[in-house]
Amino acid sequence: MSIEIPEGLTELLQSFTVEVLRNQPRDLLEFALQYFTQLKDSETKEASFGNDQNSAPRPGKAVNFIDEAMQIDSDAFAAPVINRFIRRASVCAEAFNPDEDDEDKEPWVTHPKTDEQRQRLQEACRDILLFKNLDAEEMSQVLDAMFEKFCTEGEHIIDQDDDGDNFYVIESGTYNIFVMVDGAEKLVGSYDNRGSFGELALMYNTPRAATIIATSPGALWCLDRLTFRRIIVKNNAKKRRLYEAFIETLPLLTSLELSERMKVVDVISTRVYTDSQQIIAQGDLADCFYIVESGQVRINMKRSRTKKDQEEEEMEIATCSRGQYFGELALVTNKPRAASAYAVGSVKCLVMDVQAFERLLGPCMDIMKRNIANYEEQLVALFESSTEIEQQSA
Ligand code: CMP
Ligand code: CMP
Repeated sequence: MSIEIPEGLTELLQSFTVEVLRNQPRDLLEFALQYFTQLKDSETKEASFGNDQNSAPRPGKAVNFIDEAMQIDSDAFAAPVINRFIRRASVCAEAFNPDEDDEDKEPWVTHPKTDEQRQRLQEACRDILLFKNLDAEEMSQVLDAMFEKFCTEGEHIIDQDDDGDNFYVIESGTYNIFVMVDGAEKLVGSYDNRGSFGELALMYNTPRAATIIATSPGALWCLDRLTFRRIIVKNNAKKRRLYEAFIETLPLLTSLELSERMKVVDVISTRVYTDSQQIIAQGDLADCFYIVESGQVRINMKRSRTKKDQEEEEMEIATCSRGQYFGELALVTNKPRAASAYAVGSVKCLVMDVQAFERLLGPCMDIMKRNIANYEEQLVALFESSTEIEQQSA
C-alpha cells in the first residue's frame, strides 16, 4: 500500500521544527498550539485581503512565531496614556530570510569618524539598553558601522508600515511617536534628547510599527539593518537561551503569551550593581523598570518626622529579591521616583526602558496595580500616619 504524503506536509513540519529549534520552548505543546494558530490566522488574513487565494499552507512558507498580531488594551492602564500597539501579522520570518546566508558573506559596514564624532557617538550609546549585553568586539563593530544624520523640525524619521532600514540612537532633539489606531494617527509618546527607536522592524522583519517625527532640529546615529541583525538579533538569540527559563518563572508576566514573554527577553538588558550602590534615586525622573535577577534590593523612602521638621530621614520600606520588580510606580503614574533603591551585596537586574514597558507590559497592569494599592497600606503601617503616595512623589 502506498501512502500519499499531502502536499506541503514536509515543508510545514520543517518550518515548525526550525522554529522549535530557534526558540527552544520549554512547553512544546503550548508552542505548537500558538505556532499553528498563528499560521492559520495569517493565512486567513491574507486570504481575506485577497493576497493569497490559496489558503492552504504553502510549501516553504513559514510564520515568524514572535510576530503575531498583538494588541495591548490601553484601557488596562490608568495613567499615563499608554500606547496602543497593534502589530500586523507577518509571514516573513527572520529564520527563513533567504538573504540571511548572503548576509554573512557581505563585508562589515564601516563609516569612518573623527575622534570628536566617535566620542559623541560613544556618549549617545552609553545608556542604550540594546547595546548593554554586547561584548567589546561587538560594540566596536556597532560603533564602526554607525553614521550620523542631522534632522530638521517636522522631518519624518520613520513612517509606519514602511520597511525598516536603520536603527536610530538619539544624540539630541525631541521626537514624537505616532501609532495608527482605528484609522487615526495617535500620539503615544515622545523621546527627549535620549533613547533609541526603530529596532522592531529590524528585529522581527515587520513593517515599521509607528511613525517618528522630529519636533526640533536634532542629531541621530543610525545603524544599518544588516549590522543590526548580525549583532543585535544574534545577541538576542543568546539572551533568549539565558533568560527564557527565568522569565517563565516570573509571576508578574503570567498574563503574557509565550511569544510576548519572548519579546520581553528581546528588549531587556542586564545591569550589575555593587553593594550599597544606588539604583534609583527618590525624586528623579524615571525611564526604566527593573526585575531582580540576583541579590537583594533595598527600597528606602525619605520622610520628614513631623510636618515642621525640615530634616528628612530615610527609612527602609521594602526589600526586593530574585523575581521581584521595582521602579514601575513612576512609569505608571508618570511621576518622579517615589523612593530610592540600593543594592544589598552584589545585585543583577534585568532592565527595560519605558517605551518597551508601555508596549509590552499592558497585560500585567492588573498585578502591578494590585501591588501599588498595597504600597499605601505598607507606608501607613511603617510610618504610622496616613500617607498618600501622590504626596511623596509630587
Ligand atoms: P519600528 O517598528 O522599527 O519603527 C517605529 C519605532 O517606534 C519602533 O520600531 C519602536 O522603536 C518605536 N516605538 C516607540 N513606541 C512605540 C509603540 N507604542 N508602538 C510601536 N513602536 C513604538
Ligand atoms: P518608583 O516610584 O518608580 O521607584 C521607587 C520604587 O520603589 C517604586 O517605583 C516601587 O517599585 C518601589 N516601592 C516599594 N514599596 C513602595 C512603597 N511603599 N511606596 C512606593 N514605592 C515603593
